[in-house]
Amino acid sequence: MARPKIALIGAGQIGGTLAHLAAIKELGDVTLLDLNDGAAKGKALDIAEAGPSEGFDAEMAGTADYADIAGADVCIVTAGVARKPGMSRDDLLGINLKVMKAVGEGIAAHAPNAFVICITNPLDAMVWALREFSGLPHNKVCGMAGVLDSARFRHFLADEFKVSMRDVTAFVLGGHGDTMVPLTRYSTVAGIPLPDLVDMGWTTQDKLDAIVQRTRDGGAEIVGLLKTGSAFYAPATSAIEMAEAYLKDQKRVLPCAAHVDGAYGLDGFYVGVPTVIGAGGVERVVEIKMNKDEQAMFDKSVDAVKGLVAACKDIDGSLA
Ligand code: APR
Repeated sequence: MARPKIALIGAGQIGGTLAHLAAIKELGDVTLLDLNDGAAKGKALDIAEAGPSEGFDAEMAGTADYADIAGADVCIVTAGVARKPGMSRDDLLGINLKVMKAVGEGIAAHAPNAFVICITNPLDAMVWALREFSGLPHNKVCGMAGVLDSARFRHFLADEFKVSMRDVTAFVLGGHGDTMVPLTRYSTVAGIPLPDLVDMGWTTQDKLDAIVQRTRDGGAEIVGLLKTGSAFYAPATSAIEMAEAYLKDQKRVLPCAAHVDGAYGLDGFYVGVPTVIGAGGVERVVEIKMNKDEQAMFDKSVDAVKGLVAACKDIDGSLA
């Protein structure tokens, strides 16, 4: 049986890391696509040359031509620009919206059966726009945010408790941004919810609140340290986890920016929720019960995403 084909739209920091991880994990053959075809070709060749030492079998290719992603099983989208000093959120939105149009049309023309994972920011609005421009089924287009946000939360919690991060589960809902909703009640160490761990004296409520805030600011913390770009190792790893769940029909329960229609009182809207990812793409949205405070935080987050979507519609009338 032929190996799956993985198209990576954007061969920047995250795109290159995605390619390397996909190769090491032998998820399939990889095609990197970028406006800068030298970067795409160079990274593909560099990773291919790591193959003999690492011992993976995967074809690596680089291109600037959408025809080369033909038949891709998975497309992971990182094309776009990151926010630079002096640039407003609307400036970024306008630029990346144009990129999503080109990418959406390219995927629709050449890889309409792919499972598409968007990473480009501002994530929740971009995944919505990418779905609109591509016209692919909603269950085949989702955004990577929740896996990364909950991985950051898990890392901070494991560090605080001095336990293996494998035994820490964490739950994050809502948009990918300042309004994300880390849910402590649904986050556990080996099944023990975080509020119980506060009662048990493992940590204090103040420390837990600080960890929640650090999770919300997780992306900005890395930008502040790197100075010249944003996070790429953990974002790439998170998207690969989602791609693997699809390719291997793992039915993983993973939070992602998914199209929510009916659940959570939403009426056809992309936002971060727990989902089941398998061969059908986003096969299910998992609806959990929230208390009043959690619901209020979630509503605020949904409103923030609605604002971004409205701004996209103002910029590109075809989306209205
Ligand atoms: N088509 C194809 N590639 C494009 C296009 C386009 N229209 N526009 C830009 N690119 C490419 C750039 O040439 C660059 O190689 O997208 C790549 C983006 O790479 P980086 O600038 O290194 O950004 P990266 O760190 O990979 O992040 C990508 O993910 O997390 C988000 O906020 C982040 O939106 C950003 C995206």
